[in-house]
Amino acid sequence: MIIYSEKVIEHFMCLQNAQSMPDADAEGNYGDPSCGDYLTIYLKVKDNRVEEISYLVFGCCASIATSSMMSVLAKGKTFGEALNITEEDIFRL
Ligand code: FES
Repeated sequence: MIIYSEKVIEHFMCLQNAQSMPDADAEGNYGDPSCGDYLTIYLKVKDNRVEEISYLVFGCCASIATSSMMSVLAKGKTFGEALNITEEDIFRL
């Protein structure tokens, strides 16, 4: 049995930034063929910062919740800071 933290459940039940972004400055995709999860991330960029971030994700509860958590952490950060977001940062959110 999988037990999720309250934070994971909170994000799963109330997703942050989950939407497409037709006018995004950048779009990236990542999938894990072993489990079938698939994530598309959209960015609006200003002065080397993540001004807006959104995503669409297809996957399990954990992948959906952590996508939401990642978007909260990345918003407003520089590219370097956003690229350095770790699993530990998401765990500590
Ligand atoms: S099944 Fe792929 S991360 Fe959950």
